[in-house]
Amino acid sequence: MEEKISALRAQLEADRAAVHNKEDLSAFWQKYLSKNGAVTGLTKGLRDVPKEDRPAAGKLINECKTWAEGVYETLAADIAAAELAARNAAEAVDITLPGTPNPTGGLHPITLVKNQIIDVFAGMGFQIYEGPEIEDDDHNFTRLNVPKNHPARDMQDTFYVAEDIVLRTQTSGGQIRVMDAQRPPIKVLVPGRVFRSDSDATHSPMFHQMEGLVVDRNITLCDLQGMLDKFVQSLFGPEVKTRLRPSYFPFTEPSVEVDVSCFECGGKGCSLCKHTGWIEVLGAGVVHHNVLRNCGIDPEVYSGFAFGIGIERIAMLKYGINNIGLMFENDLRFLRQFKD
Ligand code: PHE
Repeated sequence: MEEKISALRAQLEADRAAVHNKEDLSAFWQKYLSKNGAVTGLTKGLRDVPKEDRPAAGKLINECKTWAEGVYETLAADIAAAELAARNAAEAVDITLPGTPNPTGGLHPITLVKNQIIDVFAGMGFQIYEGPEIEDDDHNFTRLNVPKNHPARDMQDTFYVAEDIVLRTQTSGGQIRVMDAQRPPIKVLVPGRVFRSDSDATHSPMFHQMEGLVVDRNITLCDLQGMLDKFVQSLFGPEVKTRLRPSYFPFTEPSVEVDVSCFECGGKGCSLCKHTGWIEVLGAGVVHHNVLRNCGIDPEVYSGFAFGIGIERIAMLKYGINNIGLMFENDLRFLRQFKD
C-alpha cells in the first residue's frame, strides 16, 4: 500500500504541474478525487491489506487524501486568482487618458433674444403668427396706409422681386394678415426675417424683427407702455425705465420711438447711450384707423397698438456686439460666447 501511495503521489505531483485552467482542474479532480478517482480508490484497495496492517494503511490513505485535497484547493485558488488578474488586465481603464469630449451646441444670439421676447409676451397671453418673407405690395405697404407713390415708401429701401411683389421690408404686413383672419381681441407676435437694401456696421440687408399687435376695446398707448416696461425689464434688468418720443409711422397714429434708460450707466451717461442716458429700442404706436378699417375692424369700437422690435439691435445692445455682420458670419469663436 505504501508503494502504491507514493507512486500515486508522484503521479499527482507530475499532473499538478499541467493544471493551468478550470478545465484542467476539473480533469484533475475527476482523475484523483471523484468517486472513481485514484485517491478515492485507495480505500477500496484496503480490503487486500492484511487485517493487522489495515489501521496503518488507513492512516496513510487518509493523509494522502488530505494532502491531495490540499493540492486541489491550492490549484483552484491559483486558477481563480489568475483568471481574476487576466480579467482585470483586459478591462483595465487608463484613467490618465483624456476623456472623450461631448460638445454641446449653443443657441445663436438672435435665437436667444427672439426666445426671450417670446417668453415675456407669451406670459401676457400673446400668440405667435408667422407671415411670408416674399410679400405683396398690398400687405407690405398699401393696406398699412402707405399708398403707391407715398413718400413714406422711401423710408425703407425695398428689394423688388417682381412688380408689386417684394421681400418684406418689415413684419408689419403680419398685422394685416392676422386682422384679416381673426376678430378682436387680438394679441399676437409676428417674428420674422425682413430685407432692406442697407448695409453698414449696424445695418444688414437681411435682419429680424418681432412685430407685436394688440387690438381690443379701450386699448391705449398707456397699455403699450405698461407692457413694454415689463418687456425691457425682463431683458435688461428690473431697474430700467421706458420713455416714449413722438415719431412717425404711416400705420400708427400717434407714433412713438421707445427708449430704454441706459442699463450700462443707469442713465448718468456713457458711451453706450452716447451720453444721453437713453437708448432707442423700438418703434410703436396706436394702430391707425385706416389700417383697422382696411381689415374690416370698426375703429369706433376697437383700438389697438403695435410695435416693431429689431432683434439684432437688441442682441447687439444686450451682448455688447459692435458689428451686425458678426451675427451672420457663423464664426464659432463668436458663436461659442453665447450659452444662454
Ligand atoms: N415696421 C416699423 C419699422 O420697421 C416698426 C413699427 C412696427 C412701428 C409697428 C410701429 C408699429 O420700422
